[in-house]
Amino acid sequence: MAVVRVAPVPVLRGTVDVPPDKSLTHRALMLAAISDRDVRIGRPLDSEDTAATLAAVEASGARVTGDLGTGGVTVSGRGVRGLRPPPAIDCMNAGTLIRLFTGILVGQSAENVVLDGDDSLRGRPMTRVAKPLRAMGAQIFTAPGGTPPLVVSGGVPLAGIEHHLTVASAQVKSCILLAGLNADGVTWVHEPSLSRDHTERMLEAAGVPLLREGGAVGVRGPVEGLSLPDVEIPGDPSSAAPLLVAGALLGDPEVRLRAVNLNPARTGLLAVMRRMGVDIREEPLDPVAGEPCGDLVVRRADGLRATEVAPEEVPSMIDELPLVGVLAAFASGTTVVRGAAELRVKESDRITTVVESLRAMGADADELEDGFTVTGTGALAGGTMSSSGDHRLAMLGAVAGLASAEGVVVEGFEAVNVSYPGFARDLAGLGAVAA
Ligand code: S3P
Repeated sequence: MAVVRVAPVPVLRGTVDVPPDKSLTHRALMLAAISDRDVRIGRPLDSEDTAATLAAVEASGARVTGDLGTGGVTVSGRGVRGLRPPPAIDCMNAGTLIRLFTGILVGQSAENVVLDGDDSLRGRPMTRVAKPLRAMGAQIFTAPGGTPPLVVSGGVPLAGIEHHLTVASAQVKSCILLAGLNADGVTWVHEPSLSRDHTERMLEAAGVPLLREGGAVGVRGPVEGLSLPDVEIPGDPSSAAPLLVAGALLGDPEVRLRAVNLNPARTGLLAVMRRMGVDIREEPLDPVAGEPCGDLVVRRADGLRATEVAPEEVPSMIDELPLVGVLAAFASGTTVVRGAAELRVKESDRITTVVESLRAMGADADELEDGFTVTGTGALAGGTMSSSGDHRLAMLGAVAGLASAEGVVVEGFEAVNVSYPGFARDLAGLGAVAA
């Protein structure tokens, strides 16, 4: 286990090329694998999560040339019903892989494919995908708690359903739509509020017409085929987020984050930070992969103010909510995050792990059933925390350390490799010191 001490620094400055979007890389690899053509994916994310997806599509028969690390891969698609999955797929830590690929597998000739992962993935709820897929006619088994391993058999006739999500979830929505590609009739998904819509954008780019009515999205199956055009992957707003928060605490004169995906379903953190008094400039660039895109420029904010994050803001910043806790420790007043019970079923129980970590650094933080509160003092002492094997927590600890009085020791720092293997290098480039 990597134990890293992140020392306090007086300022951070410079420019970071934000790593490619994880959500988009997963989707590009999977949709390319079921396309009817060779798809070039430029600048994919090279991380543990996306390597698991690359391995899964390759093991399922899609030919892959190039690798994630050297700037691009070409995936030769096998068609919308043409994958031949292996007996077992290791999804490692990747919730997006296990949930989306299950939606694809139910439409392939496949018998008893076991999808499993690490201890964290084995704790994550899968009934939310298994139940609607079974309603479509698919055969899926889960472990007794409704968790992985999953055993999926495909190639049985599927029929479209109308499904109402109780919690906005892009993973569940995407899984059902992907299954709908091979189902008879229309598959509708209703969400209580809009979660990230990358799958919808990519399906439409691949020539699959989607239906929309009110807040619902639908697909009429079975589709004849997909033709995903070559795709470049823009920077990941969730990876920009820790650097953005670091810039808001220490950026002098400024921190610039290049070419970030600014899809409105992903940018809730920007609105919350601005409410807290942070000046963030957006410099628009041309869209990339059908997603709005731009540079973000942030500088140190004096006099941060507490805020309330409302339940309807949660889906647009679900992976960034832990970082609000760090900012809140430096703000005046009590920040409240509510309507975020989903945090309990992420890579760790992020309500407990965020509150425990902030407390270990000297913050006044409390758990709510569906969120947390932090009363700021304008400073953070520092201390020792564990990532709990959660990449977002490891990055939270590092950012807090930079702005703390005594530094923060992060146990299990290697968790960053799940989404942002170059995180320490990029922070150092801005002036951070780690040992
Ligand atoms: C993701 C969706 C979110 C997010 C996860 C990635 C995706 O999960 O937390 O890190 O790529 O679709 P939910 O859809 O379950 O909220």
